[in-house]
Formats: sequence, structure tokens, C-alpha cells
Amino acid sequence: MNNIIQKVTETVAYIRSHYKEESEIGVVLGSGLGQFTNELLIEKEIAYNEIPNFPVSTVQGHQGRLVFGTLEGKRIVVMAGRFHYYEGYSIADVVFPIRVMKYLGVQTLILSNAAGGVHPDFSVGDLMIIKDHISQFTINPLIGLNLEELGPRFPDMSEPYNYELIEKAKRIAHQRQIEVHEGVYVGVTGPSFETRSEYRMIRLLGGDAVGMSTVAEVIVAVHMGLKVFAMSVITDIGIREEVNKITHEEVLKEAAAAEPKMTAIVKQLILEV
Ligand code: HPA
Repeated sequence: MNNIIQKVTETVAYIRSHYKEESEIGVVLGSGLGQFTNELLIEKEIAYNEIPNFPVSTVQGHQGRLVFGTLEGKRIVVMAGRFHYYEGYSIADVVFPIRVMKYLGVQTLILSNAAGGVHPDFSVGDLMIIKDHISQFTINPLIGLNLEELGPRFPDMSEPYNYELIEKAKRIAHQRQIEVHEGVYVGVTGPSFETRSEYRMIRLLGGDAVGMSTVAEVIVAVHMGLKVFAMSVITDIGIREEVNKITHEEVLKEAAAAEPKMTAIVKQLILEV
């Protein structure tokens, strides 16, 4: 058996020995959804460092966990904490939990992140539904032997973000009078933020926002046939000519401020999946 499949199988067996239910929806909590687990009726939590084959966290005091629970009867598994390529994990490690989610029953994956805005109409604190992405500045997680059990060698990427979920989310936002943009997310490795010239380049290439996560997770999810929905909080603006020093603190502050809006949209979307 292929090494990755074998690891996924072992990991799923361990998780099942602690929690037997299938989870229909997977959620990756990035910025913007940090408090999302408060919305769930939690049934089981497992720390990443207890789960065989899960990457070991490099960030001190940043203990991630898998949270299993229900939202009005829908079974959900949440990754509270994700793995970024810039932290030094291999790209296979970054996407490993997404593959595990598939084997836990997940059919729809919802992700959030913080991103730098490069669309001229965007402001700090805005929300953007991701309608497409550009992944060419990142490492493709499907490089290597194709895992035929998971999906095809050359997966189609014409609709990585499910149109039906996008339309539902837009309607939900409109009904709640929450302003949302729709746009193209450009994935980069980080960890340095972009130079002014790089932000301009990203805009020229058709990007609306730029960030250091999500695209690898989405590629493996689409490879496995999952439906995907993703949203960004715009935490800084990259292309203004004024002074715009960007700090991690500023990103965290703006993401937290936008949380109630994103949480409201995602909660209702899950009920309608
Ligand atoms: N660039 C890349 N990643 C980010 C940014 C940014 O400006 N803001 C938040 N994540």
C-alpha cells in the first residue's frame, strides 16, 4: 500500500477508536472563524499531538485540535489550527488532515483565511468569497506518484470553489446585510509579506487578494471530489502607495474584528449544505 494511504488509514482507525460517527462537513478554521467551535455542540476533541501521523506543531503554545460536533444536527469535523508550508512542514504534511477528513466521511469542505487585499475597492475588515485561485507561486501537493484511490492524475480545476455554495453564501450575506466581495485568491508561500512590486504584480495577474494558506488544501480536496467553499478576511491592503507597513498583530486584530460576520454566513451555509 502507498505510504500516504497507509498513514491515512492508520490515522482514521485511531480517530474512529475515539469517535465513531461520520462527519459530513469539514471546516478548516483560519483567521475569521477562530471562535467557530463555540457554535457547535461538541462531542469529542482530539489534540493533534495525540493523533498518529499528524504533523507535529512547530509553534509553541499553539496546540491545534480536531473538534467533532453538531450544528443543528449536522455532523461537523473542525480543524482548529492548520499547518502552513512556511512553518517548515512538507506539503504532504500540510494537506494530510484534509485527506483524513475525506475518510471520516466529509463531502463538503469549508475554509477560512486572512489575506492581503489587492483589489482597489477592498478595505481592511472586508470579507471576500473565493471564487477562484492562482496556485502557481506555491508547491502543488499532488506532485509525485498519483494516489489513484484518492483521485485522478490530472484533476480538473475549472470549478474548484463550488458555484452553488458561492451563490448560497452570497444570498445569506445579502439577507443579513453583510457586505461581501467575490474574488480571486492568489496563494504564496510567505512568510515574508509581499513587496509593493509583488502586490502590483499579483493585481496585474488577476488577483484580488493574496495569502499563505488554503490553495494546497483546496487542490487535494478537489482531487478527492470534495465540494469546497472558502472565504477570506482582508486584513491589510497591499497596493496603496501610502505607508503600509504590515504586521502580524494587525492581521490578527482585523481578522478577529471580522469574525462575527464570517461566522454568521458560514453557520447558515452549513445548514443549507
Ligand atoms: N500577504 C500574504 N498573506 C497574507 C497577507 C498579505 O498581505 N495578509 C494576510 N495574509
